[in-house]
Amino acid sequence: MIQPVSPPRPADLLAWYDRHARRLPWRTPPAERRAGAKPDPYRVWLSEIMLQQTNVTTVKPYFEAFLARWPTVADLAAAPTEDVMKAWAGLGYYSRARNLKACADAVVREHGGRFPESAAGLRELPGIGAYTSAAIAAIAHDEPAAVVDGNVERVLSRVFAIETPLPAAKKEIGALQAQLTPEKRAGDYAQAMMDLGATLCTPKRPACSLCPWETGCVAHARGTEELYPRKAAKTDRPERAGAAFVAIRADGAILLRKRPERGLLGGMTEVPGSDWIQGSEGSRGPEAAPLVADWQRVAAPVIHVFTHFRLTLDIWHARLPDTHPAPDDAWWASAAELPHEALPSVMKKAIEAAAPGATRKRK
Ligand code: ADE
Repeated sequence: MIQPVSPPRPADLLAWYDRHARRLPWRTPPAERRAGAKPDPYRVWLSEIMLQQTNVTTVKPYFEAFLARWPTVADLAAAPTEDVMKAWAGLGYYSRARNLKACADAVVREHGGRFPESAAGLRELPGIGAYTSAAIAAIAHDEPAAVVDGNVERVLSRVFAIETPLPAAKKEIGALQAQLTPEKRAGDYAQAMMDLGATLCTPKRPACSLCPWETGCVAHARGTEELYPRKAAKTDRPERAGAAFVAIRADGAILLRKRPERGLLGGMTEVPGSDWIQGSEGSRGPEAAPLVADWQRVAAPVIHVFTHFRLTLDIWHARLPDTHPAPDDAWWASAAELPHEALPSVMKKAIEAAAPGATRKRK
């Protein structure tokens, strides 16, 4: 780490945020915040859980839909888990949805429907770790908690030219953020860092001439912004392969089943398929089909990248009469129901490959 000649001042960042804060549906704008408006902790929590592994553009419509349907944490706690899973479908990382529901239940049962205010109290709740507890406490209550997400890591690793690669650098970055976080306006400061990272201090071609911390940034002074954050060499993502079977009835219904509660995409809905086997030579033929039919292979397989592996799915489809019974562990989802099933993105892709338009919501 190098100390900049003129260290970054939180006040400069806050002044920039006052002029350039992104307007986001979960956010209390800085002018209102300074005038005393208090953010709703439920909205802050909901947005932070959704944003944990998903970008702002994707989250916006989901956030609006959740809030319209479940305006308070008590409404969410009263909702059936199945409905929450369905509304979450497409956002990915489904353990977040299960924890979201468990957290709403805990807030209502154990805290009288009010979220704990401190980062330490929040951290006791399901689905809330170090980052999320700090972010909620800072944004909702201005607790001067050090908020460190990917944006903050990029900004601070550039400002201080941190040579330690991620993830080892997290400790150093956390300590710097703790020193920089102001006693007042900690929530706006955290969100200002996020906005700076998202809009100016971007991974490629950062807009340094517009940055409030331009003069204090060591990487900028040396013209080496894009070299930070340093990252440990990546190992290649392993490959898995399998087959998925899209059985289509004459009336457009598609055969679905539920995945086991535990494990990847636990409890979500899927089309029947084989296991996903390590290596690109996993079972991809019609042996694993859920019923006897004239299975045809779709020309192009579906490729889906999960965090820990890359999946190649061969898609098979077959037409069946309306009267064909579903196997014991499966059901026929009608064309009208299909877009509302809790289908993860990979399963939507599989169905769309065999039946284009089938998973799209109709107006
Ligand atoms: N990413 C995570 N939390 C965020 C927030 N509150 N505003 C913008 N981006 C975010």
